[in-house]
Amino acid sequence: MALRHFLTLLDLTPDELTRILARAQELKAMQHLGQLYQPFKGRTLGMIFEKSSTRTRISFETGMIQFGGGAIFLSPRDTQLGRGEPIEDSARVISRMVDVVMIRTFAHATVERFAQFSNVPVINGLTDDFHPCQLLADLQTFLELRGTIAGKTFAWIGDGNNMCHSYIHAAHQLDFKLKIASPYGFEPNPQLLEKYAHCVQLVPTSEDAAEGAHLISTDVWASMGQESEQNTRKRRFAPYQITPRLLDLASPDVLFMHCLPAHRGEEISEELLDDARAVVWQEAENRLHAQKALMEFLLFEQGLTATP
Ligand code: CP
Ligand code: NVA
Repeated sequence: MALRHFLTLLDLTPDELTRILARAQELKAMQHLGQLYQPFKGRTLGMIFEKSSTRTRISFETGMIQFGGGAIFLSPRDTQLGRGEPIEDSARVISRMVDVVMIRTFAHATVERFAQFSNVPVINGLTDDFHPCQLLADLQTFLELRGTIAGKTFAWIGDGNNMCHSYIHAAHQLDFKLKIASPYGFEPNPQLLEKYAHCVQLVPTSEDAAEGAHLISTDVWASMGQESEQNTRKRRFAPYQITPRLLDLASPDVLFMHCLPAHRGEEISEELLDDARAVVWQEAENRLHAQKALMEFLLFEQGLTATP
């Protein structure tokens, strides 16, 4: 049985991705009906966090508990990872004990190296380059509210960061058009722009990106690890703030998403999250359901079957 990881959205075929998103909706309905579904009794998720988290930690940990298993929070501060034990050795050891691993870290190469030496599926819970789990939730939310994704136009306005890169992968995988507006010098990785030029377009202004869009999404101006750039970024990103007036330029049925945490008065105006077009709380909840569907997919692919 080939070992499957989820380091970027490209680790799934479009068909698998579509199936996981549909399954996420089923799991959500079951959860809301209070149905107990515990396929992973006795199974463990190891969660390595080298950066802070609210949503990712709670959704993975809760998801695993709801599935009848457990999750272990591992921080470099109190594991040997923080004292220089090589990632390759850590991967070999941790993956002999747990059934699936989630990692949030800085360099994307770290999750790749961990996956290379792991005996169990590895999930990227955010790196400097990609945040594919958030995209599962965003795509699930769009499907839930609007039915179809293919052929739609999405807009990314703001930093060309890890979230933006995962939106680029999503556009390719699910066949939507992505318009990106970023300040000069903060555009997404040019190699991704070139490779996915068939579905991704860099546009000059926020207004160009918003026009006709079915979804507008943004993120903080300074990501984790970029705190020292906060002041410069505030100046450079000011014209890219998302406001209700900007949403008015979009399709009448536009949705606004933000992976959160949000900074009111910076990347979004003070009142934006109160606008009916903003669906960020539903989006945040869907982290739970989407990642349950992902873990179920990865572990069943591994040959694990539901425990009786
Ligand atoms: N959106 C997201 O990943 O949130 P956390 O940083 O709180 O996990
Ligand atoms: N781009 C942000 C996302 C946080 C969920 C960061 O990397 O900090």
